[in-house]
Amino acid sequence: MIERGKFITLEGGEGVGKSTNLAFLQARLLDAGIDVRVTREPGGTPLGEAIRSLLLNEGPTAPSALAEVLLVFAARAQHIQEVIEPALAAGRWVLCDRFTDATYAYQGFARGLSQSAIATLESLVQGSLQPDLTVLLDLPPSIGLKRASQRAELDRFEVEDEAFFNRVREGYLTRSLENPERWLVINAGQDLEGVQRALAQGFSSWMASHGS
Ligand code: TMP
Repeated sequence: MIERGKFITLEGGEGVGKSTNLAFLQARLLDAGIDVRVTREPGGTPLGEAIRSLLLNEGPTAPSALAEVLLVFAARAQHIQEVIEPALAAGRWVLCDRFTDATYAYQGFARGLSQSAIATLESLVQGSLQPDLTVLLDLPPSIGLKRASQRAELDRFEVEDEAFFNRVREGYLTRSLENPERWLVINAGQDLEGVQRALAQGFSSWMASHGS
């Protein structure tokens, strides 16, 4: 029987260096000889990418807070069925740029939707599927937003104020404390070398206890 792959997610607020460190984590997995499928949320499928545009774009199609969470989970349902479950079942590992912890942080803590409403959707859409490991790149929004503001164009989330991103951060940190064995929290305020050293160390020790 094929051993099921592991499901790793990467989370963080704006400007924390998610893309660079996602590539770094992917390289560590490849070095370890692990076949990894890299994907992202919202997105990862044709339907998910179409929903991503609806979520990120301002203008007449911009969703309400409730529509927003339903769209996030619609994209996730498709992503699980089309990409995540088939990969894990085939023994591949999945490295996903954001997953449901982002929904608790952004739609829950920051937008104010109840945790129990999100938990209901989570259970409907995911059943028992949960990440095996979640890496949080943690950075005070006062720093992250300065980095993110240098980007060419800001999306519908990136234009939110610092208070919004303080709640996002609080959401992630609260969740990491509730379930610490699933989380690897990295201080993303160090220089890139320091971040990647911490990431490599944390990841190796997780691999030693959970990786096979
Ligand atoms: P990204 O640009 O970091 O890939 O993510 C796109 C945005 O989507 C980001 O601002 C966070 C937001 N988001 C949510 O609000 N809820 C979610 O469940 C996910 C996965 C992302």
